Amino acid sequence: NWTIDDFIDMKVEQIRDEVGDKKVILGLSGGVDSSVTATLLHKAIGNQLTAIFVDHGMLRKNEGDDVMKALNRDLGVNIIRVNAQDLFLSKLKGVTDPEKKRKIIGKEFIEVFNQEAKKIKDVDFLAQGTLYTDVIESGTNTARTIKSHHNVGGLPKDMHFKLIEPLRKLFKDEVREIGEKLGIPHDLVWRQPFPGPGLGIRVLGEVTKDKLHIVRESDAILRDEIKKAGLQESIWQYFTVLPGIKSVGVMGDGRTYDYTIGIRAVTSIDGMTADFARIPWDILQKISTRIVDKVDHVNRIVYDITSKPPSTIEWE
Ligand code: XMP
Repeated sequence: NWTIDDFIDMKVEQIRDEVGDKKVILGLSGGVDSSVTATLLHKAIGNQLTAIFVDHGMLRKNEGDDVMKALNRDLGVNIIRVNAQDLFLSKLKGVTDPEKKRKIIGKEFIEVFNQEAKKIKDVDFLAQGTLYTDVIESGTNTARTIKSHHNVGGLPKDMHFKLIEPLRKLFKDEVREIGEKLGIPHDLVWRQPFPGPGLGIRVLGEVTKDKLHIVRESDAILRDEIKKAGLQESIWQYFTVLPGIKSVGVMGDGRTYDYTIGIRAVTSIDGMTADFARIPWDILQKISTRIVDKVDHVNRIVYDITSKPPSTIEWE
């Protein structure tokens, strides 16, 4: 029966007791859970915390900068940002299988994190943004694995730290409320779900820099229009995908032969099942026109009208 304020005070106290004057590291993915954990730890122990933000280059437009602004610049969390886009791209070169891509991104994330962590001396603790739902899910093996839903940033197995998981008993909505109370901007804290492998599974097949650019720019336009239309609270998840097919179009006097962008938008309670969102035609039209207009190499937009099941939310 605690309030959010009680919880924060209690955790701050606990963390201080446990950590003493020792050092803590944390892997920041850019997501809500690790961001709130970092901010809470910072409140408790200040610069004894080092957050390592592995930017794999597959975040949404401005996302990495927004996280740095909110957490580092405005809240003072001690963050080392590692720009690892080129490394991840090189590891993903030629890889087309979705599960392989997930595994590579997850493994590389941990590797980059480990490398940075090793540079910090005398660390005793590793903090993680584990939630109650993560605890439950990892405790059951009954769920059939359709996609390996690892959050990037799992526990590095060969490192011997004591674990701190202050959000372990909480649900997502509680974590978001705590994040807001701690001063993380509303928009960051209430973001739609975003997969750990990021845009890497929204560029279908091989991930390249150019394709990432197309999916990132089109996604930014989609999000902007959804926000302008006031629909962001009623749609569970909305994003664009780049299937990699080319088709013929006409622009001005010329024939084009360019990419198709797919728009995916679903309503859902928990992501387990989903229905495609009934976005009004005129808004879809605005989005379509703007994407074709502003994003080079796109000449066609399709809207995904399948539910889950039989489809999944993501295309990979
Ligand atoms: P699907 O595509 O299986 O997605 O219907 C259900 C929810 O899970 C997210 N998702 C992932 N999250 N790592 C994650 O952290 C992943 O590899 C991954 N794959 C899918 C998806 O965005 C949706 O919210």
